Amino acid sequence: MSKHDENVFTNRRDLKADAGVRQIDETPSTGHSIALMTEVGRALAPAQLEQRRLIHREDSVRRQSDAFREIRTRLLELSGGQNFITLVVSVSPDSGGSFVARNLAAAFAFDEAKTSLLIDCNLRYPNQHKALGVEPEKGGLIDYLEHPIRGLKSIIYQTGIPRLRLVPAGTSRENGGEFFSSFRMRAMLDSLRCRYTDRYLFLDGPAIKGSPDARILSDLADFVVVVVGYGRDTPAAVNQAVANFDTSKLAGVVFNQSA
Ligand SMILES: Nc1ncnc2c1ncn2[C@@H]1O[C@H](COP(=O)(O)OP(=O)(O)OP(=O)(O)O)[C@@H](O)[C@H]1O
Ligand SMILES: [Mg+2]
Repeated sequence: MSKHDENVFTNRRDLKADAGVRQIDETPSTGHSIALMTEVGRALAPAQLEQRRLIHREDSVRRQSDAFREIRTRLLELSGGQNFITLVVSVSPDSGGSFVARNLAAAFAFDEAKTSLLIDCNLRYPNQHKALGVEPEKGGLIDYLEHPIRGLKSIIYQTGIPRLRLVPAGTSRENGGEFFSSFRMRAMLDSLRCRYTDRYLFLDGPAIKGSPDARILSDLADFVVVVVGYGRDTPAAVNQAVANFDTSKLAGVVFNQSA
């Protein structure tokens, strides 16, 4: 790989204290397990995963996959045993926020007892569907929020990674604030999280600088992971960005070196 990572997870809290439509049921009910969800099509091979900048189990990406597993472990320690919603946002655009969100979701899906759902909440520059090679033919998040009658099932796509599903952003928008602060968005996340106890949700938000969306999205999340482009932001800028979030939700800061 021409790019490599230097992910360092700084904990800010006291640790003591080829895709298709998914095949699982999404009718309202709670507390089921979906780790044995049906997968349609073949799982992507390690070389295909690397092309998509995704971790896998082979040695060639061991350093990266260990870094993401470590973040997974810390989040699980903080959560006290319940499934949760994690917002991943970068301080400045193009710093690797989506890269970290995607790989963190993949690290959870590595665990055969867990499933993860990545939701692309970057409405202006959505990219997870492209990165994961998903064709969002039935729309995504915004399409559901505007027309909930379509049902959640239609906007959850397989990714070629067992137990990892994607909700793409859908029809792109300049501003997500009105959607993210809506009752419908909160109800959707509640229903996605509560429906399956082994499902972990990851919100991929736009950068903190230049948009209020990251802060608005943090109200919907249990944890926030902030991504700093290595050498891009000054310590003062990082502190200012982090100050947007409730300290009890701030799970850590990842320093990502993408080039
Ligand atoms: N550690 C890394 N290793 C390899 N590639 C990386 C790494 N971090 C980021 N990249 C690549 O750099 C590019 C920008 O990353 P990404 O889209 O994740 O940034 P972002 O902060 O989400 O940007 P945006 O502001 O558009 O949301 C992508 O092509 C991504 O695959
Ligand atoms: Mg992004």
